[in-house]
Amino acid sequence: MNRIPLILDGDPGHDDAIAWVLAAADPVFDIRAITTVAGNQTLDKVTLNARKIASLLNLDVPIARGREVPLLSELIIAPGYHGMSGLDGPSLPEPKREEEEMNAVSLMANVLEESEEKVTIVATGPQTNVASLLLSHPELKEKISLISTMGGGLRNGNWTSAAEFNILVDPEAAYIEYHSGVPLQMCGLDVTEKAMIYPEEWEKIREIDNPVAKTVAAWLDFFFIHLKQLGWQGATLHDPCSILSLSHPEIFAIQDCYVDVELKGEYCRGMTYVDGHHVLGKKNNCKAVMDVDREKFVELLIEARESFGGNHE
Ligand code: RIB
Ligand code: CA
Repeated sequence: MNRIPLILDGDPGHDDAIAWVLAAADPVFDIRAITTVAGNQTLDKVTLNARKIASLLNLDVPIARGREVPLLSELIIAPGYHGMSGLDGPSLPEPKREEEEMNAVSLMANVLEESEEKVTIVATGPQTNVASLLLSHPELKEKISLISTMGGGLRNGNWTSAAEFNILVDPEAAYIEYHSGVPLQMCGLDVTEKAMIYPEEWEKIREIDNPVAKTVAAWLDFFFIHLKQLGWQGATLHDPCSILSLSHPEIFAIQDCYVDVELKGEYCRGMTYVDGHHVLGKKNNCKAVMDVDREKFVELLIEARESFGGNHE
């Protein structure tokens, strides 16, 4: 099997955590490192969460913290969705591994330099660390096979009507990424709000006699509390799209297009603009994931039970 070397960069966060469970559950992925970025909660909190998730999954990989604040913006956090810890709900094992002394950009750079093959970066929080890597190590762009992001939305936002949370937290970082020339895949709200799991479906996960499966079900219980108050019928699994679109692209609709990031505008800062009809005449810069077969998506989430709980040698 040709395995896919991965760096997981995120702000766990319930959906980041479930994305990482899926990455650890699939032998096609070779997780090389985990890096954290402030977003859903502060850097301290998401880094502790990352260390606990790695312990839950028996993922013995280096973990390094990234930037505490966005490149230029004030940090926005999302305790309403993810709680004061950033990963409220079930208790998690204490971390087995200390975080690295080096920062996220140094760890990412080391992984890229040392890898014989190109590496895929899955970035499911604000794009601050990825942008910092691209700015400080342009020579390593050629070692990046793909940046698979969760962020943006070609038709709507979720933090403002124009901007999705990850992009709004650090629009400059996203702009740098979309203008970097590095292969990019965007899982925006267009697909992630369709990647929904209903309470009766995650009961099947809870029934699995596996501590990871029961933790995933409890994370979904918590994550759904606020979503239900907002009128959602199920839990929208944003970040897992950035993993499953790599291992199962056949269940997604993906189109090449030109996307840019709005940095100005009193109301539209952080909007991801898509030139769907090529009126700008610019070269496509990303693969936008636009749709998903929801039933097959949920099947994959439930089927992961056979291998929940640990990275594969
Ligand atoms: O808008 C959804 C995104 O913001 C997800 O990545 C979620 O974890 C939060 O970071
Ligand atoms: Ca996230």
